[in-house]
Amino acid sequence: MIMKDLLDNELVAQLERETSGQNIQDTLRLLSQRFSGAIAFSTSFGLEDQVITDMIFTGDLPVLVFTLDTGRHFEETYKVMNRTLSKYGKKIKICFPDAGEVERMVSQKGPYSFYESVENRKECCHIRKVEPLKKVLEQVSCWITGLRASQSGTRQDLARFSFDEANQVIKYNPLADWSVDQVSEYLKTNHVPYNSLHDKGYPSIGCAPCTRAVAEGEDIRSGRWWWENNSAKECGLHHNDKNQ
Ligand code: ADX
Ligand code: SF4
Repeated sequence: MIMKDLLDNELVAQLERETSGQNIQDTLRLLSQRFSGAIAFSTSFGLEDQVITDMIFTGDLPVLVFTLDTGRHFEETYKVMNRTLSKYGKKIKICFPDAGEVERMVSQKGPYSFYESVENRKECCHIRKVEPLKKVLEQVSCWITGLRASQSGTRQDLARFSFDEANQVIKYNPLADWSVDQVSEYLKTNHVPYNSLHDKGYPSIGCAPCTRAVAEGEDIRSGRWWWENNSAKECGLHHNDKNQ
């Protein structure tokens, strides 16, 4: 186990060294060769994800692009999904949660169980997001995400590369050190479609019943699970990393 830890850490350090100073599209290309057939990018069609999607699709990179359709997204999210499919003409894998699990939960607890306790909320995120993510990650060795360090206090130590212990994959966060202005600039310059809710006070978008608009100057993620005061405001997709 110690040996394996050392190997994982060494791989992360090696990738850091090898790609330092390189532009993101070149790093994505290098990784798609290194992890050929075993590299995937998860998109929720958020601003950051749209930047990475654009880089992958315009570069024609062999990376599996997938999304977790929780069944509870905003209409606007489906619209940007559709515009993205039309613009690039590329495949995006749409992953659904286990129907039996959703049926059991909603039948037992109703459609809004997540408002009743943090435990129920985590159960819902687990069934609708974490488990479907796990299934995809079982098939790959490298996972690309749109996380940025300045999105929240819990993400401030985010590195470009890490090792996700729970899913046993190398995790690459290409925009780890980008500012929100850099993200907006990229989308504007490259005419990339984005979720129209971003212009209506929604800097971070998750499921519809669990996301609301925030006021000017408020924390980017304060509109997510806004009724919870003390939880870490994470759904369990992230924070499985050795070096976080
Ligand atoms: S979350 O953990 O709070 O939901 P956030 O919305 O900030 O995450 O998104 C961070 C990254 O997690 C995204 O850039 C994307 O890589 C991944 N992600 C979040 N939600 C989804 C989703 N529904 N489908 C695919 N990837 C997602
Ligand atoms: Fe369920 Fe809300 Fe989590 Fe979406 S964000 S999976 S609706 S608890």
